[in-house]
Amino acid sequence: MLDPIQSEANQIIKQLETDLEKGNLDQTKYLGKRGLFRKLAQKIKDVPPEKRQQAGKLINQVKKTLETKVRQHLKTPSIPTNSIDLTTPGEKPKVGHLHPISQAIEEISRIFERIGFIRVRYPEVDWDWYVFESLNMPPNHPARDEWETFFVDRPDTTGEIEYDERDPRKRHPSLIGGGKLVLTTHTSNSQVREMERLKKPPIRMINIARCYRRQQDATHTQMFHQFEGLVIDKNITIQDLKGTLNYFAKKFYGPEVKSRIRPFHFRFTEPSFEVDFSCHICGGTGKVNGKKCKLCKSGWHEVGGAGMVHPNVLKAGGIDPDKYTGFAFGWGVERTYTLKPGLNIDDIRQFYGNKVEFLKQF
Ligand code: PHE
Repeated sequence: MLDPIQSEANQIIKQLETDLEKGNLDQTKYLGKRGLFRKLAQKIKDVPPEKRQQAGKLINQVKKTLETKVRQHLKTPSIPTNSIDLTTPGEKPKVGHLHPISQAIEEISRIFERIGFIRVRYPEVDWDWYVFESLNMPPNHPARDEWETFFVDRPDTTGEIEYDERDPRKRHPSLIGGGKLVLTTHTSNSQVREMERLKKPPIRMINIARCYRRQQDATHTQMFHQFEGLVIDKNITIQDLKGTLNYFAKKFYGPEVKSRIRPFHFRFTEPSFEVDFSCHICGGTGKVNGKKCKLCKSGWHEVGGAGMVHPNVLKAGGIDPDKYTGFAFGWGVERTYTLKPGLNIDDIRQFYGNKVEFLKQF
């Protein structure tokens, strides 16, 4: 007697399953007031009394099965493959970051701006005058050899305007429109340019720019960056230079790092120095647990040059060396940056290899 009910129930369940697979669920069709289940349940009238209890159980079970199937479907709706689910969360766009050297430039600028230095930019293809001659390096002077220079081809306009070999002011390219053009080998080209711009001290300049030299190995790239500091005022002394170097060392590397200056020679500063920073691993002692420090070997890292601005350079910039004095310093950004605690970069060419995997780490 229960067989017809059972087989009809099976049919209803199967029908629901196919509907669910197709993704068109209409609950009222099965569980609504005039739905298929209601019709099935009414069939209980035709069941003889002694089988009614059994029939009732069966019908209850069918209801449960239908309800569970519907509930499950609503929880994990099956999406037909050819449609788009507008409720799926979107993929986050990948956000990049500044190149590590740009980050270093930002940080260095902030450190010097805090003590009143003004960041300036000057041409990176500049006259020989600004790169060498105004810095007390006359044409053919052997001191120029230290900067392996890229020259830029251009028509030679020398002699088109009055030109006097013996008078440096008359060889000035902005006066005579001539001279050689070079890719800046150092940022020191900014020194005389800044004196010309401001005309009168006080000058507190920080210039961070690209430099170019004919060199390429693990610690040199043909294009690199330097930052140049220049301070000119009345009564500026080596003490002011030392104070500035120490301030930078502590801000950039950490409070325990110190600076040191050693005698050196540049044509554009007198006296001239090389600048070292104490090693953050061994604290300037050169030893870690009684053994030679692997990072610095001597306790110090050489970073760049500095000195008191040479009177001839002040004169070239139109500043009276009897009234004013100044200091200048210049370093490579890449070298300064790789010495930061925690960075272990032994080949600075990696910065310009365009390998995202490498650059991502910073
Ligand atoms: N321009 C020098 C260099 O490239 C560094 C320097 C800058 C030295 C300023 C003294 C003063 O090595």
